[in-house]
Amino acid sequence: MTVETITDSKTIPQKSSPANSRGLHVITWGCQMNVYDSARMTDVLAPLGYQPVTSPEQAEMVILNTCHIRERAAEKVFSELGRLRKISEERVSAGLKRSIIAVAGCVAQAEGEEILARAPYVDIVLGPQTYHRLPEMVARAARAGGAVIDTDFPVEMKFDFLPEASAPQVEGNLTAFLTIQEGCDKFCSFCVVPYTRGAETSRSLPSVLNEARRMVESGVREITLLGQNVNAYHGDDGEGGTADLPRLAAALAALPGLERIRYMTSHPRDMDQALIDAHRDNPALMPFLHLPVQSGSDRILKAMNRGHTSDEYRALIARLREACPDLALSSDFIVGHPGETEEDFEATMQLVRDIGFAQAFSFKYSPRPGTPAAGQPFQVDEAIKDVRLQRLQALLREQQDAFNADMVGRTLPVLFTGRGRKPGQITGRSPYLQPVHVEGSDELIGQTVPVVITQRLTNSLAGTLLRERVCA
Ligand code: SAH
Ligand code: SF4
Ligand code: F3S
Repeated sequence: MTVETITDSKTIPQKSSPANSRGLHVITWGCQMNVYDSARMTDVLAPLGYQPVTSPEQAEMVILNTCHIRERAAEKVFSELGRLRKISEERVSAGLKRSIIAVAGCVAQAEGEEILARAPYVDIVLGPQTYHRLPEMVARAARAGGAVIDTDFPVEMKFDFLPEASAPQVEGNLTAFLTIQEGCDKFCSFCVVPYTRGAETSRSLPSVLNEARRMVESGVREITLLGQNVNAYHGDDGEGGTADLPRLAAALAALPGLERIRYMTSHPRDMDQALIDAHRDNPALMPFLHLPVQSGSDRILKAMNRGHTSDEYRALIARLREACPDLALSSDFIVGHPGETEEDFEATMQLVRDIGFAQAFSFKYSPRPGTPAAGQPFQVDEAIKDVRLQRLQALLREQQDAFNADMVGRTLPVLFTGRGRKPGQITGRSPYLQPVHVEGSDELIGQTVPVVITQRLTNSLAGTLLRERVCA
């Protein structure tokens, strides 16, 4: 759910470009925050005449929005840049304008200078906090003909300088991401995010509500609030105080037309009683929570600087389940953090058995330059990491399959988001983010309808509509 998503610009609505516009192609790697950022960069460039196109061949400007979280992130960027450079050269040979190439996101932030040194044909390097300055950078790059780099952590907040959002929606404009918080002060031993995204900051409540209102007016029914530590949200409430996530969620739930609210990614340490209570009291909050734990070993949790023990995590889950018995959980795990023994790994397996996850992401530890864990002794062998990852993933898969199988016979509210693959079929998402397919008419798209689940497919569910006809 967090970072495994490797998306490209196809998740962002692409319009064919009018004759006098310039093509913009955005390639997005990494987490949902990058998906959101790519949409906002598209918004920022629209007044300059840039309109999204579906391939780099058609583009006068290409933005590569990068992720630095794991393995050989920089190498992947350089290889993609090589491909984009070739395409740009082919454009010139065909008598078209060469493309402006921009590198954005977390690799740009962490290794901006290195990118310009190794790929001097790159025109713009910009960090995640400066994309509101993109038009100025484009103008400077065009004027100077040289590279422009902007990887500041500016005092102004980009959200205050962005045009009104127009394109952050995915899935037929019915569901959308909305960034409310950025950055991280937690400095887990293994993680680059505090270095690439900077310190924890929250957008103001009015600014978030305005954006949400516009989304709902344009048809959005489900909003996922995003942040590296989204449950640490503390935004200026515009009335001299601050608003926390439960208050924001309550204000959002009051927007007519907004049916579902999700948030990710949360940290166990910021899961306070008010937020737990919100899962009981706010019906718009979906009963599906992504709460990364990383490890089940107290020794490793300490080495990771996570700030809680495995039993504290168990106790937290128990409180959440008490408040919301329907709640299902998803998580992130890392195997092979420096110092992880067989016994530590077994403790992770035990935690997974104890909790039971509906879904999870698991990764081999990957040393990230500049992070404390990368320099530690007792790095775990790749081969051992492989074995542990396979064992953990087999267990998680078993749990996911069991969770999905358990849905058969139940009636779930499904928000229909589009047509299915087969004619006559429509598809939507359950409260637990499971894709659900039914035989049904297009007029149900955009509505939330009860569905009786009849079958578990590999990664989705099949069902039948509880009521075949919708009354107006
Ligand atoms: N803020 C979230 C995580 C953001 S990064 C949290 O605190 O839980 C998303 C996930 O990537 C992490 O949960 C972790 O499982 C994984 N990850 C981060 N750094 C990693 C690394 N160096 N090696 C392997 N996985 C990593
Ligand atoms: Fe990274 Fe830890 Fe911050 Fe999550 S809480 S973004 S894992 S440093
Ligand atoms: Fe990757 Fe940056 Fe997101 S490192 S996971 S794109 S915050």
